Amino acid sequence: MNILVIGSGGREHAIGWKLRQSKKCEKLFFASGNAGTAQVGVNIPVDVTDFDALKHICVEEQIELVVVGPEQPLVEGITDFFQADSFLKDIAIIGPDSHGARLEGSKAFAKQFMRENGIPTAVSMDVSRDNIEQGIEYLRSMAAPYVLKADGLAAGKGVLIIHNLEEAEKELQSMLEGKFGDASSKVVIEQFLNGIELSVFVLTDGTDYKVLPAAKDYKRIGEGDTGPNTGGMGAVSPVVFADKDFMQKVEDRIIVPTLNGLKKAGIVYKGFIFLGLMNVESDPFVIEYNVRLGDPETECILPRLESDFVDLLMAAFQGNLSEIVLETDDRPAVTVMMVSGGYPGDYEKGKLISGLETTKECVVFHAGTTIDVETQQVKTSGGRVLAVTSLDYSVEAARKTVYANVEKVTFKGAAYRADIGIDILAFKA
Ligand code: AMP
Ligand code: GLY
Repeated sequence: MNILVIGSGGREHAIGWKLRQSKKCEKLFFASGNAGTAQVGVNIPVDVTDFDALKHICVEEQIELVVVGPEQPLVEGITDFFQADSFLKDIAIIGPDSHGARLEGSKAFAKQFMRENGIPTAVSMDVSRDNIEQGIEYLRSMAAPYVLKADGLAAGKGVLIIHNLEEAEKELQSMLEGKFGDASSKVVIEQFLNGIELSVFVLTDGTDYKVLPAAKDYKRIGEGDTGPNTGGMGAVSPVVFADKDFMQKVEDRIIVPTLNGLKKAGIVYKGFIFLGLMNVESDPFVIEYNVRLGDPETECILPRLESDFVDLLMAAFQGNLSEIVLETDDRPAVTVMMVSGGYPGDYEKGKLISGLETTKECVVFHAGTTIDVETQQVKTSGGRVLAVTSLDYSVEAARKTVYANVEKVTFKGAAYRADIGIDILAFKA
């Protein structure tokens, strides 16, 4: 069958790479893709929220399966658009409709959903310009640090963790006055949870579900988790502290009540649910829901997936997930993100990438890369440039292999964290 992957990052390259391994995958297209996706399929330059243009591709290329990578098109209703269109309605689209996508698109909605369904999460209060005084009182009643979250999508920047009360009060004002535009016209104030974070990925057909390998993401730019937040600087999978007992709690307390809650709300959800969790003394709490796969977690977990990805996604759309046996590679994976110098602040683009052909025992997923039209060379085009993943018999071995490869690839200003997975080694000790 012909397949379309929507998005242009490392996550979408990993999705396409995995789909390409299936015998069922005939033609593979990306909207818009990058230099890496061009190695496994055909890139078509289209905006991810230009639904008419995406429809045109589906018609022209006889697409039967669409995988939506990023959240924006889901929140803007791409699945509703497909369902309402007589030509598109039979195409298997992976991702919830706009109602389901509110789990990610509105933090206040997600908190309300969790409260109604008894799903463990930090206690919180919604604040808008109408109840700012109560918001400030609420902050004063809490202990530091203070967690302020813009309600809407803010390109991953909408969460502030502040140690000083006065500053938190000021930030609350500034968010409500439009610091993140409309996204912060409402703000969720939340209790700070002390624990270790992990990402759990669920694929559901609306009734049944499969839990994919869990991963740990490294969000800060600096080693030892210091400095500003990024889109993610690396990942490791599996997560040692997410043992059988913990994952059972995740299923019983979070996954099952989430799916029941969606049903109760009349939401037919066929797609991925990404649970951003905090492990607080061996109990899971939801930090956030995302309605898509994570980046760079996808680049770390899909190489560990042995099941046919086309079969898995088609089963999710057709409601047959219960018939699928999920098979995974036991070996751990470590993913290291190579980024442009200066990222997550200002950085330069257009740097020549060399050494890609010398890598071995790893997969190099492209994120911010492009093919120079004149020279056909691969150049940088974004902050996060490449995600390099290795699997090996231990996290330690996978770290060695991955970093040996990261060192072979160069571009001017390249930076990466050298400590991805180190904390996981400490857990084993
Ligand atoms: P989010 O965009 O919701 O993933 O939040 C960004 C990051 O802020 C998370 O990955 C956590 O590291 C942190 N965070 C969010 N909410 C909380 C909380 N209630 N307690 C502690 N840390 C949090
Ligand atoms: N790695 C976190 C995210 O994709 O949101």
